[in-house]
Amino acid sequence: MSKPLIQVIDLVKTYDLGQTRALDGISLEIESGEFVAIQGPSGSGKSTLLNIISGLDRAESGEVCVAGQRLSRNGDLARFRARTVGFIFQLHNLIPSLTALENVMIPMIEIELSKKEALQRAKTLLARVSLTGKEHRMPTQLSGGERQRVAVARALANQPELILADEPTGSLDSQTEAKVLGLLGEIHQERNVTLIVVTHSPEVAQKADRIIQVRDGKIVEDKRV
Ligand SMILES: Nc1ncnc2c1ncn2[C@@H]1O[C@H](COP(=O)(O)OP(=O)(O)O)[C@@H](O)[C@H]1O
Ligand SMILES: [Mg+2]
Repeated sequence: MSKPLIQVIDLVKTYDLGQTRALDGISLEIESGEFVAIQGPSGSGKSTLLNIISGLDRAESGEVCVAGQRLSRNGDLARFRARTVGFIFQLHNLIPSLTALENVMIPMIEIELSKKEALQRAKTLLARVSLTGKEHRMPTQLSGGERQRVAVARALANQPELILADEPTGSLDSQTEAKVLGLLGEIHQERNVTLIVVTHSPEVAQKADRIIQVRDGKIVEDKRV
């Protein structure tokens, strides 16, 4: 059998001098191409787990291997993040002074693409998220759902193997939420990317291959659906 895309081994992360165990010994394997939903109450460690898998944060002990890279030994996590991971935040995190198109091009700075190629790729991605004609709008000139679609396009900018989304629709109304989540599901199928979504939405969980429940920094249930 091939090696899983993600291996998490006994991950521990504490805050407040050890008083808060955000992650309390999490072990987990995720195969390439899986669509995993992570659920759990607020404060259970979901964001901490995603941040460590994506190289945004480091664990205290334990190990994370993603696409053959041991993150604890990786001295250049920025490079890893730019090439391997696309991250979608709850509140889109677009740069307010840049247009939709420029926001999508930002991650491309880390890879070798000509300006022309970057522009073309960003336009194609915005078309994929149905934003043709709005490339030059500023984030404030877009609706919440449109902003989140720009964030989806930006996450795809460098053709990552792995897409992580942390409550990507937490700030949207339910109709817009359904659209953004539908889009993520389609992209997962089209590109065969690995998709991990933290969500409270039962609809997303339904579309996922696997649902992981987290409580108090531990996995309490992991089932294939
Ligand atoms: N930067 C931080 N400083 C102190 N405590 C934190 C920090 N980030 C998260 N925590 C704590 O770690 C625990 C897990 O948080 P988090 O991963 O954000 O949970 P979730 O995403 O499931 O709501 C919570 O108790 C939270 O208060
Ligand atoms: Mg969170």
